[in-house]
Amino acid sequence: MIQFPQDFLWGAATSAYQVEGNNVNSDWWEWEKRIGLKETSGLACRHYELYNRDFALARSLNHNACRLSIEWSRIEPEDGKFSAKEIGHYRDVILSLKELNIEPIVTLHHFTNPIWFANLGGWHNKKSCEYFLRYAEIIVDALCDKVRFWVTINEPMVYVYHSYILGVWPPQEKSFKKAKIVTDNFIISHVKVHRAIHGIYERKRLPSPSVSIAKNIQAFETCRANLRNRFAVYLRNRLYNFEFIKKLISYKSLDFIGVNYYTRSLVDAETWRFKNLLLDVCKDNHSQLKKNSLGWDIYPQGLYNLLLRLKRFGLPVFILENGISTDDDSLRWDFIYEHLKNLALAMEKGVRVLGYLYWSLIDNFEWDKGFSPRFGLIEVDYNTYERSIRESVRKYADICKTGILDDGNTK
Ligand code: FCB
Repeated sequence: MIQFPQDFLWGAATSAYQVEGNNVNSDWWEWEKRIGLKETSGLACRHYELYNRDFALARSLNHNACRLSIEWSRIEPEDGKFSAKEIGHYRDVILSLKELNIEPIVTLHHFTNPIWFANLGGWHNKKSCEYFLRYAEIIVDALCDKVRFWVTINEPMVYVYHSYILGVWPPQEKSFKKAKIVTDNFIISHVKVHRAIHGIYERKRLPSPSVSIAKNIQAFETCRANLRNRFAVYLRNRLYNFEFIKKLISYKSLDFIGVNYYTRSLVDAETWRFKNLLLDVCKDNHSQLKKNSLGWDIYPQGLYNLLLRLKRFGLPVFILENGISTDDDSLRWDFIYEHLKNLALAMEKGVRVLGYLYWSLIDNFEWDKGFSPRFGLIEVDYNTYERSIRESVRKYADICKTGILDDGNTK
């Protein structure tokens, strides 16, 4: 039997664009239409109207925390013009959580940008940090009396990888040079916003907030353990997993380490060229691991290994995303159970963990993959927008209530 701490935060996460619907001022909205994406976000889950209902369901599942994001393009639909109505909307959203005794964890940037910002060059623009800071200050000022946990940027390296290296997300660039500039702008932005958030709380004499990023970390392992692959694993761990965190810590701008963990990547570099070392993965399907519906390896032990590597930074960790897309509900339960077990093992080895948030509270729009990947604890019927709680998830609800992970009664 494993007992998690009394004050552990339990819940699930969403992001605005993936659940709200009708985010017409966002660069993703414009891009989906322009390239003719097969499934576009449209009404998504209509969470913009139905948030009260979704949060009540989360409460019924014993959640005491919920991560959500603010859609920048709603708050600032035009350069420098802020919408009081939309700021009010998000205040209502936060109040709705507080009334249910659910701790909000608020993300300021989760992949999408206002169209005007994208038209000015997006995160490649030198002024991107200023624009982001201006928006962040306004929203933090409006919500600070109700929010303790802030996440500035969701998965900066995933964004850079998809948008500036692979070129599969807007603005569809393929340039290592641009990728480096965007990465640096994310670092500067985070450091500035971290400082600004603390400044606002100090001025208002509010208790000190906890501010971080949501850092996607991946378990990198060699397919064949030759020298080249071993070096490629070292390089990817450094550049993809740890460098960003190290940089932010050197600026004293992380109050905890926000972690998103999903999968393992089997490294098989074809040549010693930088591109191959950084990007090549094994093409043969000889991995014995189970996979999610998107083909990602399920590898709970990777979470344990990576958490132990994060221990040296001496900061508490918060699991901000961990989840599985599947149509097999029993697999979802196995996934949660095994990851929690590995999380607990890491905690026994001295890793401090603040909480665990499953991705996602409800099924949603999985970016360029559309609506078919089902990540939700709660199923969404996209014809009626009705919600139904998946059976296996009740077991997670038990853990959220008791903090006890037990082989006997939970498996
Ligand atoms: C993460 C993203 C989240 C969702 C999950 C499946 O990388 O942060 O928006 O798409 O993957």
